[in-house]
Amino acid sequence: MSSSEQMTAVTIPEFGEAGVLRTDEVAIPEPGPGQVSIDVAYAGANFAEVLYRRGVVDVPLPFVPGIEVSGRIRAVGEGVEDLTPGRPVAALTIVDSGGYAEVVVTSADLVAPLDGLDLGLDVAAALPSNSTTAFLVLDRVARIEPGQSVLVHAAAGGVGSQLGQAARLLGAGRVVGTVGDQAKIETARNFGYDEVIVRDRLAEAGEFDVVVDMVGGPTRRASLDRLAPMGRLVVMGNASGAQDVGVPANELWFTNKTVSGFNLAAFSAAFPEEAGRALRRAVEAAAKGSLRVQVETLPLARAAEAHRRIESGTTTGKLVLGVAAP
Ligand SMILES: NC(=O)c1ccc[n+]([C@@H]2O[C@H](COP(=O)([O-])OP(=O)(O)OC[C@H]3O[C@@H](n4cnc5c(N)ncnc54)[C@H](OP(=O)(O)O)[C@@H]3O)[C@@H](O)[C@H]2O)c1
Repeated sequence: MSSSEQMTAVTIPEFGEAGVLRTDEVAIPEPGPGQVSIDVAYAGANFAEVLYRRGVVDVPLPFVPGIEVSGRIRAVGEGVEDLTPGRPVAALTIVDSGGYAEVVVTSADLVAPLDGLDLGLDVAAALPSNSTTAFLVLDRVARIEPGQSVLVHAAAGGVGSQLGQAARLLGAGRVVGTVGDQAKIETARNFGYDEVIVRDRLAEAGEFDVVVDMVGGPTRRASLDRLAPMGRLVVMGNASGAQDVGVPANELWFTNKTVSGFNLAAFSAAFPEEAGRALRRAVEAAAKGSLRVQVETLPLARAAEAHRRIESGTTTGKLVLGVAAP
């Protein structure tokens, strides 16, 4: 830690390319009522933070990004009793961000204790955003039923690698992934998919009860065509950066299809207790070995490199940033 009141954080001083990210000294945040502060060990690196940095999401500058962390409880605010200082935790910091720092504050509802679990802090930092999202998207939004078929895009990526496995844990039948590049097929297959196809062959994939799209653009339209009657398309990202695709409401009416949206930040703000329960479910699944995460670690000072790699679309699994790694 830098001094008694200051800490090191990576900030977004202005919107722009990855090079705008800066290592700064900023004030250590204090927890308010119902909140905890966490001494951060690792911070997950996510597409969401790239969007903050580009200014796609309007945030007040300078801004400390970082929607998920692992670490140890540092202090608790009024009304928080069970999360005592020193306990190892994973946490969503997605409502106010701030995880690319030595200390972050978040709601006690959005914390998963790790004591007694067989889970490294590096892996634990990779779970709060993507693994929690995977369970919520399939269970709460798509309302998946046992035996139903699922199609997931970008299946080798951070959230894609969790969706296939979560579908399995929730009792799905056929689980198919798509990838943008032949080279990712093998990686995606290791994340529990029955089949993995290159996305330009989507038309041959058959019909699905649930399709999860975080790629957007032409993939979104093609995903709607892959829905079986009573099928549900969940829209949860636009990694391709394509222009928005309109949903043809009359087509939904005539074909018995549903399109839903999911955003973990808005969900966590509106339903923090439910988001926390989903986080703890993901943490337990990972600790038991039924949810596998492929993690690569970079030091926090190389956050810009992590962003460039995420933007290149070539990464598989998850990048985490070591802040005060044990
Ligand atoms: N709604 C939510 O709450 C929520 C939660 C988590 C993630 N997400 C979204 O899900 C998406 C993936 O997130 P992630 O953390 O899994 O990221 P990631 O691991 O970096 O995966 C992104 C993947 O998108 C595909 N992609 C297609 N076009 C791309 C382009 N032009 N640039 C970069 N990637 C491109 C690539 O896979 P292929 O090579 O297979 O095409 C890439 O690996 C993002 O849009 C993110 O915002 C949303």
